[in-house]
Formats: sequence, C-alpha cells, structure tokens
Amino acid sequence: MRTLSLLLVLTFATHLPAQAPVGSTRGVVVCVSPLAAEVGAAVLGRGGNAVDAAVATAFALAVTWPEAGNVGGGGFMLVQPPGDAVPTFIDYREKAPLAAAKDMFAGKIDFESAVTAGVPGTVRGLELAHKKHGKLPWKDLVLPAVTLAENGFPVNAALALSLNTILQDKRTTNGEFRRVYGKDAGKQVWRAGDTLKLPDLGGTLRRVAEQGPAAFYTGPLADAFDAEMTASAGLITKQDLAAYTAVDRPVLTGSYRGHDIVAAAPPSSGGTTLIETLNILETFDVKAHPRHSAETIHLMSEAMRRSFRDRAAYLGDPDFTKVPAHITSKAHAKQLAATIDLAKATKSESLAGDIPLSPEGTQTTHFSIVDGAGMAVANTFTLENAYGCRVVVRGSGFILNNEMTDFNHKPGVTDRKGNVGTAPNVVAGGKRMLSSMCPVILRKGGKTVLVTGSPGGRTILNTVTCVVVNVVDYGMNARAAVDEPRHHMQWFPDRISLEESPDFATLSGKLKALGHAVTKHRQGDAHTVVIDPATGTAFGAADHRLDGAAVSPK
Ligand code: DON
Repeated sequence: MRTLSLLLVLTFATHLPAQAPVGSTRGVVVCVSPLAAEVGAAVLGRGGNAVDAAVATAFALAVTWPEAGNVGGGGFMLVQPPGDAVPTFIDYREKAPLAAAKDMFAGKIDFESAVTAGVPGTVRGLELAHKKHGKLPWKDLVLPAVTLAENGFPVNAALALSLNTILQDKRTTNGEFRRVYGKDAGKQVWRAGDTLKLPDLGGTLRRVAEQGPAAFYTGPLADAFDAEMTASAGLITKQDLAAYTAVDRPVLTGSYRGHDIVAAAPPSSGGTTLIETLNILETFDVKAHPRHSAETIHLMSEAMRRSFRDRAAYLGDPDFTKVPAHITSKAHAKQLAATIDLAKATKSESLAGDIPLSPEGTQTTHFSIVDGAGMAVANTFTLENAYGCRVVVRGSGFILNNEMTDFNHKPGVTDRKGNVGTAPNVVAGGKRMLSSMCPVILRKGGKTVLVTGSPGGRTILNTVTCVVVNVVDYGMNARAAVDEPRHHMQWFPDRISLEESPDFATLSGKLKALGHAVTKHRQGDAHTVVIDPATGTAFGAADHRLDGAAVSPK
C-alpha cells in the first residue's frame, strides 16, 4: 500500500458542490460514476433487483471509472435480501498465484510491475452474486457496459483529471496502457466532453456477456492473459485463472446501539475492525460531545488505535490463518476501553505487545444500491492502486490489479511507519491478501437502515466508522453523514489525520495538547444510502469528494 499524492491532488481538485440526497421508494444506486449509476438505475427500472443493478453497475464502472472499477481486480459484495432473509457475503478477492512465495517482495517492491497482480476475482464474484440472487439474464446486465465501451462515452471532469494524472506520471510505462487510455495515444490531454472509446475492453466484455463468466478465465481471453504474463514477467498461469473461485462466506455480524451490523468477514479486515472499534465506542457516551470536537475525535482515535493493533496482530486469509473470534466480542472491547485515557493520547508503541516493531488514497471504489423491495447491496472493489499495476492485457483492454502489495510484503517487519510484517498476512500461493474494504449494512428491528463503504486503503475502516457514528450517534441524514469531515488513526504511524474544515487549526491544536500528532488529508469516497424505516424511502447521497451521483429509476 502506498500513498499516491497525485491522487490527493486529483481528489481535492474535483471537490464538487454537494447534491441533495435522492429519496425514492423505487430504489437508488449511488456510485462514483454518474454514467454507471444511470446504468444501475435503468436495471432497477426494468424490474431488476439490487443484485442485478449491482452486476450492471460494476461492469459499467470497469468502463467509465477505470482507476478502480474493474474486471482485472477483485472485491467484496454484501447482499441483504428484503425482510429477515439471511444476508450473503461474496468474497471475490484476488488470490496470489500458485508460484508466489513468502519472500518474493522482500527486496524492493515495484508497484507498477505485473508481478504484483493477483488472480482477478471480479467476474467470478459478480457471477456468484447473480447466480444466488439475480433475476434478469446475465447478458442483459453486461451489455450496457459493452455499449459504453464500444460506442464510447463522454469523459467528465473527474475522469479527465484521473486519466491525465496517471498518464503524466513517468512510472506509467506500459505501452498498451498508453495506447488504450491515452488520448491520441497520449499525445493530447483529456478534457471534459471528449469521447473515450474502449473497443478492446468492449470485445472482452462482449465475450463475457455472450459466452458467460467462464470466458474470462478460459479460452482466448486466458490465452491473451497468459501471453501478457510472459511478456510482462507476471506470475499468473492459465491454471491459476481456471482454478479461481469466488466464495460465498457467512457474513460477519455485530451490533451497535440497537443496530445489527452486517459486515465483510476475513479476508477483509473491514468488518472485524469496524465492529471492534464500534464495540469500544459503545462503552462510552460518544454524543456527550459535539461530533466535530477534539473530545470526540480523541475518543474515536483511541478506539481506532486499539482495533488497528489487533488487525495487525491477527488478520489474514481465513483459509490460511485462524482468526480468533474474541476480537469482535463485547468483553474484549470492554477491556480495551478501560485502557483509554480521555485526557491523554496513548502511545501506539505501548500497544505493540508481542509484535516486534522494526501509510493511503482513494483508488478503490464503493457503491451502494437499494431496490424498491428493500434488497440492499454494498459493494467495494478495487485494483489496489489507481489503475492497478498500470498494465493492460494486450488486446483485451482491461487493467491488471497490483493487489499482491496488500500482503505483508516485508515479512517480520512491523514498523512505526505503518508497515505490517506479522505472519497472518504474508504471501503464499493461492492465498487471499488481507483487505481493508468494508462494505457494510446496518439494520434496526429487522429493517435495513444504512448501506455504506469507501475506498482509501486502511482509512476505509475509519471512514466507515465515521459514517456509522454520524448516523447512529448523531442522527445525521445521508447527506450530512457523508459530508461531515473525517478523521483517521491506524495505530502506526502514531498520528491522527484530519480532513480540512473551517476549525482545523483549533481542532488540531486541541488534539496536539492531548498528545496526538496531527496531519491533514482528504479521506474516502463513501457513496451511501440511508433508509427511513417508517416509509421505506431510500435516500442516496453520493460522496462529492471525488465525483458521483445517486440515481433512482425514472
Ligand atoms: O483491499 C484493500 O484494502 C486495498 N487494496 C484497497 C485499496 C484502496 O482503497 C486504494 N487506496 N489506497
């Protein structure tokens, strides 16, 4: 995981005026790309359910938001069917190729190398979600993305900036990437209103639409993938591709002040860390102080510090490492809460315990969907860094992830900078790398009331915590909960990062007086739905830190 300052520039520069939450009883799709939200809403309008809309939105995002929307990456999808039906957690996280080895990154890691690509999971994940819950034919859900890619679509300001930023970066050396995503092969810069056509990607998606998901993992597309691995020194084999399966895992559950939490289980750290942080906060009267006060930010940071320490100690792929159950228990939270001093910051180092001691952006994307019957989908997917390893599979038009960098790539090295080297998340062939993606659904009295999630690497966990606290403790509506300035603390580096706000100087002064180091960063992109349980009206609020729209069926 690496901070890309260029993307911070990007996200500050595209901060748009907020759109009012979109309320509807016919459902709503909220995501970073207005075009992809339109695609999902049209599926709802045609009688598709939230999962149908999610499949169509995800494929559309692979075209219209290429920095994170993908078929060459992976992610997690939570589905809460209407009423009290059992929720589903689809794990379509990438897997390490079988040839991967523990110390493969022990030297210098090159984030732009195809060796950092994990076996892509997105197409299998969307297939599994669709098989379990979908109503409309698969082909009809993929074809809107094919049309966008083949006919081309208008580039908006956010996409133009995103593409120009990556293309102007000297580390973007892959010729196919420049050919496919450059304007006039990179000779010109993208401007809002230009048309981007992606015919190769359209061809790939057409095969997936017409021949089914297996076409991505076998046959001519697998041949092209294999040829790319040979040309770019990647490790993924045809055998890795053919063997990839998405997994339907039990959701992780918890509770917070009378709400039931439906969350992502490992290999995401999302649910575990969120639930642990909220369990700690539940032992305090959080709203005794205003949301944007030093007292509240101090308390929340101390809770975050402790749950992130446990994340480093225990979490990894559950197929490879046993994740202890006690860390999401109320009893464990109580013990940790007792160690919090409300008047003084804890030194992160003092929590290391038996971990011997020797930083993130927005390049993932989350969407939230609710349909008219009350089915909810929270989906976060990623290429890891913006545009993954920036390698496009020749002739196939899609970008490869660099998700392998989410492993603890320096085994044994856990340091004060934020590197984690603990055993549960070291590289092994066939293993899923630990994630921070945290799609989450909150329910009250058997009804879904909140659907959210975010990009941002480890900041995701705290962006989601902030949104949950904003809604549950402070009673904010979707718009306010998304707009409220956020804050982040991840154990190491031992500092709080605050978003810009009018009282930033006062607030950071008070936090420093409590013993915290403070930095300033924009945080997350949490496309959110809040549902009024009385009327069933779903209010969608796009997060305008980057771009986005909430769209309901017409
Ligand atoms: O799965 C994860 O936790 C990361 N690959 C997510 C990456 C992300 O959010 C991009 N931002 N840094």
